[in-house]
Amino acid sequence: MKNIVILISGRGSNMEAVVRALDAEGWPARIAAVISNKPEAKGLEFARARGIPTAVVANKEYATRAEFDAALQETIDRFEPDLVVLAGFMRILTAPFVEHYAGRMLNIHPSLLPLYPGLGTHQQAIDAGDREHGATVHFVTAELDHGPIVAQARVPVLPGDTEDTLSARLLVEEHKLYPYAVRLFVEDRLEIDNGDVRILAPAEPTSI
Ligand code: GRF
Repeated sequence: MKNIVILISGRGSNMEAVVRALDAEGWPARIAAVISNKPEAKGLEFARARGIPTAVVANKEYATRAEFDAALQETIDRFEPDLVVLAGFMRILTAPFVEHYAGRMLNIHPSLLPLYPGLGTHQQAIDAGDREHGATVHFVTAELDHGPIVAQARVPVLPGDTEDTLSARLLVEEHKLYPYAVRLFVEDRLEIDNGDVRILAPAEPTSI
């Protein structure tokens, strides 16, 4: 049984998709906690309503990034996570924090990385005239929105698309992609090899 801690900053729809898939598909895992850096994050309400333990570590109460990350790490580790899932967690993380969770922290980013790290990805795809846009789940490394790629989902960019229409189309795919990737981790099917992720075949069902 793996412990998952999910970090959010807002709406939390990707967190919700992971929680629902875990429950519906009976993964060998449980959501140990949902933690937000914003007390008003909408996603906290969903987690509380499901009886999931929640915590808030408000970044504005800390003078430096290092102090905040240290407090966050302490809170996360109380829940003994096997995996930390960043789901719309809008913070740049310090290197020691990232190092502490090396190989056990995933992020979802709304672009086909390595294209468009950072913010404003949907508009960038539109402005560049891209025919295709997408989302990426990757292991978190010290460099923002980099790190070994687990899986990507693609959507077309359609004529007349705005940031809103494109992000809404992509979000539907994110809600399938992130549960898929987290489940692979939970089932021990991800191996990082020289910066690349290998997806292992599912374990054979054991017979007696
Ligand atoms: C998603 O688009 C995700 O890819 C990005 O931030 C957004 C979070 O949305 N990292 P939500 O909070 O999961 O609804």
